[in-house]
Amino acid sequence: MTDQSYAPTSEFAAQANGTADLFDAAEKDFEGFWADQARKYVTWSTDFEQPLDWSDAPFAKWFVGGQLNVAYNCVDRHVEAGNGERVAIHFEGAEGDTQTITYADLQKRVAQAANALTELGVNKGDRVAIYLPMIPEAVVAMLACARLGAPHSVIFGGFSADAIRSRVADAQARVVITADGQHRKGKVAPLKAAVDAAVTGEDSCVEHVLVVQRTGADVEWHEHDLWWHEVVDKQSDQHTPEPMDSEHPLFILYTSGTTGKPKGILHTSGGYLTQAAYTNSIVHDVHPESDVYWCTADIGWVTGHSYLVYGPLANGATQVVFEGTPDHPHQGRWWEIVEKYKVSILYTAPTAIRACMKWGQEIPAKFDLSSIRVLGSVGEPINPEAWRWYREHIGGGSAPIVDTWWQTETGGIMISPLPGVTTLEPGSAQRPIPGISAEILDDMGEPFTEAEKVGYLVLTKPWPGMLRGIWGDNERYKDTYWSRFGEKYYFAGDGAKYDADGNIWLLGRVDDVMNISGHRLSTAEIESALVSHHQVAEAAVVGAADDMTGQAVWAFVILREGASQGEVSDDIVNELKAHVAKEISPIAKPKSIMVVSELPKTRSGKIMRRLLKDLAEGREIGDSTTLTDSSVMDFIKSNLSKS
Ligand code: WTA
Repeated sequence: MTDQSYAPTSEFAAQANGTADLFDAAEKDFEGFWADQARKYVTWSTDFEQPLDWSDAPFAKWFVGGQLNVAYNCVDRHVEAGNGERVAIHFEGAEGDTQTITYADLQKRVAQAANALTELGVNKGDRVAIYLPMIPEAVVAMLACARLGAPHSVIFGGFSADAIRSRVADAQARVVITADGQHRKGKVAPLKAAVDAAVTGEDSCVEHVLVVQRTGADVEWHEHDLWWHEVVDKQSDQHTPEPMDSEHPLFILYTSGTTGKPKGILHTSGGYLTQAAYTNSIVHDVHPESDVYWCTADIGWVTGHSYLVYGPLANGATQVVFEGTPDHPHQGRWWEIVEKYKVSILYTAPTAIRACMKWGQEIPAKFDLSSIRVLGSVGEPINPEAWRWYREHIGGGSAPIVDTWWQTETGGIMISPLPGVTTLEPGSAQRPIPGISAEILDDMGEPFTEAEKVGYLVLTKPWPGMLRGIWGDNERYKDTYWSRFGEKYYFAGDGAKYDADGNIWLLGRVDDVMNISGHRLSTAEIESALVSHHQVAEAAVVGAADDMTGQAVWAFVILREGASQGEVSDDIVNELKAHVAKEISPIAKPKSIMVVSELPKTRSGKIMRRLLKDLAEGREIGDSTTLTDSSVMDFIKSNLSKS
């Protein structure tokens, strides 16, 4: 508990979408509750017969027998309801170019893209990879895939050629959609080159690469390349959406797990869309007829999927899509956009808020932010200090903040305050939303409610937006999520505790997954990137607490024979940092790399990352009695104090 909590005002409560009676309704009849939400937020071409089929647990089927088209729900039905002239997207380009896209415009653009993909031979069930900057074509491409029932796999634009290659191969994508480059802080950065490197080779499954002309940069051209504008613009802007089964796959999104191999998280149609739209309504409190909503997440992450594309568009909201960065051309860029479009709901990440705090409150103070009425946070715990700054300097001292806990796997928000109901407790995500059930378990797998005791967060009932598996690996799905505490509990991988008021506080990952600026990276993934460098023999990576990015990557490496740690120059450290950036992404670049002669290992050979983490976080080193060689830590420590 912190010193001050914040109750909703009666004005806010009176207009809020999320009300206290939803908790009672969900409690009384769990399946009936979700059936009601599915019928309220989604238009079904064929109504479903059964809300949930859990007979093949942990593989869920939601809204069984129902049929819908997700793109129709996100676009066409708003036009049919007479809202075609409503702005769907205020696009703000990185260099100041803009587009105003109404729902009627969006319908035409999605129809043309769907026709183009059909012409390229994309059929229902085929996978399409999308590697694009934050431009309208990214949203259009995702919706065109949804319209055809061709699951998309969006790959974050910061990922490397190797990351693209493995994701494209795992999903067996037939088409990749990319751009000729991307604007980054006043410069043009290459984008297509990474795709080129990823799809070369005879064994590539990729038949076509569709290239959006965004920057005009020169690109190398291959036989399978096609310009987006040449293929899409000539198409008819009419396209009849085909109804899909509620459980038809909507997308695969790769995320880091505890091994080096990313997991393709599979989401399907009806349940996912229901939860995305429902939560966007009750948690963000979107009122489509009056709000201007802005989620700053990239479409390469799940937040961009659920709260930039599917949730807000299903609700017919007006939103901002921004291609650029918060500090270009100046550190007030976001606030300039809020003022310009009168943004009323802003959803962003703690790491961005902390960066803005560092730049100073006088920057947002220069802009009129009085339109803001709800603020959201996602991706990592938000520290109470950043929470208060956010409310004070962005929210005019009065906007409720919803701290939303969820995961790529959950598809939508799970634990969060409701802004019109909950008395806000800065730093805590508070309670499961109506329809969601969570508990905290001890080491023995027993639920407890004691305050301040630390345990493991689990979800105790299936939910509509839940992952339906890991693409191509059902065993890994069961092992990862449904075995730690038996098949009754979904193990989220997060530590958690209750406070004396029963609020849930999330305490970060308990597995080998790190959270850097809200991005998930696995220690194993970075270790294998380091070891792939010819001079590295062994590597251990930990995520250490960091004021700005939540966690930062610390790496400890053993070099191969001939490069002893005594003569290590900065060059090798810089080279290894660049190597990780190239192999995975610049986000994965270690903040610190230390060359060592040994790594702390147990007798069974397991690296004791816990000890390295103690060291990186400047703590007294914990119990090291199980180490094979206890002098190792002393050595590393003395080296650290020298560097
Ligand atoms: C962390 C992002 C504390 C958590 C939507 C989770 C959070 C992981 C919060 C999922 C929050 C996300 N408070 N921690 N409000 N939101 N996390 O899959 O560790 O990229 O397991 O999904 O981020 O990250 P992912």
